[in-house]
Amino acid sequence: MTYAAGVDVGSTQTKAVIVDEDATIVGRSLLPTGANVVMAAEHAFQAAIRTGQVSEEEVGYVVGTGYGRYRVEFGDTQITEIVCHARGAAEMFPGTETVLDMGGQDTKAIRIAKGGDVLDFCMNDKCAAGTGRFLQSAAAALEINLEELGPTALRGTRPVDISTTCTVFAESEVLSWLAKGKKMEDILLGVHRSIASRSFGLMRRVGIVGEVTFTGGVTRNEAMVVVLNEILGTDMNVSEESHYIGALGAALFALERIRHGRVAALQEEGV
Ligand SMILES: Nc1ncnc2c1ncn2[C@@H]1O[C@H](COP(=O)(O)OP(=O)(O)OP(=O)(O)O)[C@@H](O)[C@H]1O
Ligand SMILES: [Mg+2]
Repeated sequence: MTYAAGVDVGSTQTKAVIVDEDATIVGRSLLPTGANVVMAAEHAFQAAIRTGQVSEEEVGYVVGTGYGRYRVEFGDTQITEIVCHARGAAEMFPGTETVLDMGGQDTKAIRIAKGGDVLDFCMNDKCAAGTGRFLQSAAAALEINLEELGPTALRGTRPVDISTTCTVFAESEVLSWLAKGKKMEDILLGVHRSIASRSFGLMRRVGIVGEVTFTGGVTRNEAMVVVLNEILGTDMNVSEESHYIGALGAALFALERIRHGRVAALQEEGV
């Protein structure tokens, strides 16, 4: 059996996925990217092959994606994360025509054709106000874990109006609301609403068409899913595996390269 691998080295977290020849996910891993991007890629790959009980020699092709894709030193090629998220989303949810990827540093809205070809995309520029980094700053200010952000926000009933557009000031705005006696859950609901409305703006720029698939690490945040669904007026596709969609897309491209390689070899032999 030959396997294919995708390694998505994001600004915040590194994801690796191993697929078998039927494109089924057999191994996956998720690690913080940290300061040493080369090591993060290597460790994520090793952890993914371990969970899949696959040996390194059995992996026929590796595609690197994400902001650190050129640091996947053992990779065979690199493909941008826009293209990989599109491919992964189309595989996991074939009705997808709009993708929203919310990562640590960037939020991207992508319009795709069924099957995964990218038609258009749009990204938050220069600042991380509408991204996971903003959520991380809010969690740090309130001294709670990332995992608690969503459940806490969902208990909110009277969301505050978050005016800041800059992650650098998010922390001080959150603290000033606390000082004014606002409840943590209402502040967090306000933070989620503010991020969701920016993301909605990005999506409108590419056009919201067909099924909407949510990808990236913020898919783990249930409050963001609820708030975005409310704004969109429809339920986005989201699953436990959604954080891995970019890495999955990369692994699927790797699998295609293996298949093309086989066809080319057969043609050369005159078969
Ligand atoms: N368990 C969790 N609960 C809530 N949120 C989470 C959880 N794990 C990750 N996140 C969110 O996901 C973000 C990281 O997402 P992701 O791994 O997609 O980013 P990335 O690919 O490294 O970044 P980028 O694509 O912007 O370079 C974090 O900033 C955080 O907000
Ligand atoms: Mg990413």
